[in-house]
Amino acid sequence: MKIIGGTASLPIAEDLSHLLSIDLIKIETKRFPDGELYVRLLGPVENEEIIVIQTTFPDEYIIELFFLLDAVKRAHAKSITVIIPYFGYGRQDKQFKQGEPISAQALATLFSINVDKIITIDPHKDHILDFFTIPAYGISAVESIADHLRTKNINVVLAPDKGALERAQNAAKILNCDVDHLEKTRIDGTTIKITPKTLDVKNKNVAIIDDIISTGGTMATAIRELKKQHASKVYVACTHGLFAGNAIEKLQNAGCDEIIATDTIQSPFSTVKTAAVIAKTIHDFSR
Ligand code: R5P
Repeated sequence: MKIIGGTASLPIAEDLSHLLSIDLIKIETKRFPDGELYVRLLGPVENEEIIVIQTTFPDEYIIELFFLLDAVKRAHAKSITVIIPYFGYGRQDKQFKQGEPISAQALATLFSINVDKIITIDPHKDHILDFFTIPAYGISAVESIADHLRTKNINVVLAPDKGALERAQNAAKILNCDVDHLEKTRIDGTTIKITPKTLDVKNKNVAIIDDIISTGGTMATAIRELKKQHASKVYVACTHGLFAGNAIEKLQNAGCDEIIATDTIQSPFSTVKTAAVIAKTIHDFSR
């Protein structure tokens, strides 16, 4: 077994190479003068079980992954497993309005070509896995996030909406603390409304856990609500930190004490590593 790390996920590939004691095949990437991407494998893959790992965000990493998969197939790999730590476009998982694509399905169909198996971390919705035409598995980073929160003396885990409740419940179980949720209504891409609700958070440390932080609007609104209700420290934690625009500033201005994300998307806040949970899954598959 050998691993190839796309540019978006090289640090996880290096961690996995170390944890699984497998070779990391280096790649060369460059841009042609017109901006088109060039990709080349710098090691042999013939008759090898190959893992290719690449987050598909932002868009440039989607094309890089397609080219890597084509290169691996052409070089006669024995099998190809793709790991997509963050599967982009997961939020366009249905047609919300007539005339729209189902972007998540369109990409999943293409990523299934030449590939034997796919693993992704905390897909936005579970049914996204059914969009792939090959076996697809979702794994959760919630245990790793909860482990990271162990030292923070968390009293309450809060889900910003009902959709995030199961994740919050799982974290609360690990942290042995209370759990609650807010009711969120999305008005548009950047505006959300949270229904006022009395929470048992006065003088308590709270961790708000969600799958994605994008504009930071959801988390900032939840932080403000918690601060209004005199919560002590407020931590925000997510699997996928997209941090679009001024998201960080929004979270800080709302009174957030710490921003925690995993390394599915590399940022200064990617303090939670996902290689261990991925390695365990790969190990379980190869038994
Ligand atoms: C929505 O369903 C997701 O779970 C997140 O709550 C959402 O993507 C966060 O977006 P934003 O940071 O822009 O509020």
